[in-house]
Amino acid sequence: MELSPTIFAILAFFLSAFIFLRSRTTSKSKRLNLPPGPPGWPVVGNLFQVAGSGKPFFQYIRELLPKYGPIFTLKMGSRTMIILSRADLVHEALIEKGAIFATRPAENPTRTIFSSNKFTVNASYYGPVWRSLRRNIVQNGLSAAKLRTFRHVRETAMDKLVERLKSEAAANGGAVWVLKNTRFAMFCILLSMCFGVEMDEKTIQKMDDMMKTVLITLDPRIDDFLPLLRPFFSKQRKRVTEVRKQQIATLVPFIEQRRSAVKNPGSDPTAAEFSYIDTLFDLTVEGRKLPPTNPEIVSLCSEFLNGGTDTTATAIEWAIARFIENPSVQSKLYDEIKATVGEKTVEEKDTENMPYLNAVVKELLRKHPPTYFVLTHSVTEPVKLAGYDIPPGSNVEIFTPAISEDPNLWSNPNEFDPDRFLSGGEDADITGVTGVKMMPFGVGRRICPGLGLAMVHINLVLARMVQEFEWSSYPEDTKVDFSEKLEFTVVMKKSLRAMIKPRV
Ligand code: HEM
Repeated sequence: MELSPTIFAILAFFLSAFIFLRSRTTSKSKRLNLPPGPPGWPVVGNLFQVAGSGKPFFQYIRELLPKYGPIFTLKMGSRTMIILSRADLVHEALIEKGAIFATRPAENPTRTIFSSNKFTVNASYYGPVWRSLRRNIVQNGLSAAKLRTFRHVRETAMDKLVERLKSEAAANGGAVWVLKNTRFAMFCILLSMCFGVEMDEKTIQKMDDMMKTVLITLDPRIDDFLPLLRPFFSKQRKRVTEVRKQQIATLVPFIEQRRSAVKNPGSDPTAAEFSYIDTLFDLTVEGRKLPPTNPEIVSLCSEFLNGGTDTTATAIEWAIARFIENPSVQSKLYDEIKATVGEKTVEEKDTENMPYLNAVVKELLRKHPPTYFVLTHSVTEPVKLAGYDIPPGSNVEIFTPAISEDPNLWSNPNEFDPDRFLSGGEDADITGVTGVKMMPFGVGRRICPGLGLAMVHINLVLARMVQEFEWSSYPEDTKVDFSEKLEFTVVMKKSLRAMIKPRV
């Protein structure tokens, strides 16, 4: 049965008010000293203010900062959300009290299904399952030695990306879509790394469509915050089960193909020498007798693919936009590439000797962290932060642009200026160990395990793209619109289309 949104809201309100009044009489004595925040309604809290604002969540938060400061609370239905937005508070939470703040909150039912009941690196609670999965991805899946084995995959993907851009430009008077093409290249690389089996373009497209459908299905719903409304969302729940079934049906054949290639070496001549799922087949997980099941491997593979596709492609889109806006940055980078490699094609090992490129990438991640919030943290026990209570079960959200654009930490923080990182200028430890000034990959125990791979990808793509093409605005002589929108990552509101001119 479906209800109209109005009836549903009224019903929700009265039910909530009832529960609120009951709970108030019992819990008055246990009042916590939560960080302050905007006043909300009984039980629904600030949920309808946020949902009804029509603004992306990051924008809503940005506008609350001047009034509520670096630590404040939003009541989102049954969830208590604590927003942090200043470097010293993040340092206190994720570094000094790192073990307490390293867990994740309980999932909503949809995410529980897609994470195989929190059996992924990103979703697992801080404990034995997380330790086993995280150790495996860091030491076996994404170690420097393993990354090297995929160098040829990255080179092939770069050649294909250049070809795709050239043919798209030829068919469109020189214009190309930036995000769509880089996203596809990143996805191809991660697919190869994950499954170690060859896939044709049609299959890759099918996998990509599947991933996108899953991401849409994971979009939060109102009943995630107000569980008492769940009976009204039976149709959506059915859809979640269907999509999960489709996801398993799409991925399991590749898992089995790889399992058989690993069991029978030499049987599949297209099989790569190593892939991420090889590390999962016999993985020992603390506290469990059996290795991961196929549905669990599906969840772990999806995390691998999703973790590194949109994030990296988003960074590239913003970088190209900055190159178009600042032709001097682009030409300085081109000069550095020429001085480093001469006429040969730039390779990833060359990018390690390009200080200007490295500065550009750092400035890019400072100014345009692909996600404005790190993944939601939670605490393993009651703890104080800045004198306030942080209760277990609360969602701790970290709004990172407020840190990387803090005028107390950066000079002219709003300017895109890679030179700030060159000799004698400013610096920042991207891992946050020696202090937090920017945190595009998070900091502390939950820091992104894909950081190394992501940096290789961003450096390589930008070096190749600038070596091959001169980038300019489309339509010609127009200004780039730097407005943002949320689409899992924070992408350009007007997806970037640019003109390319081959350099030779
Ligand atoms: C530019 C690219 C990337 C960015 C900006 C990025 C950003 C992040 C951020 C902000 C977090 C959350 C940290 C926290 O909770 O405090 C994270 C976690 C994670 N990322 Fe990435 N990431 C990128 C690429 C990748 C890649 C390439 C992979 C793997 C192939 C990956 C896999 C993961 C995983 C598994 C986690 C969960 C870690 C945990 O909970 O212990 N990411 N990433």
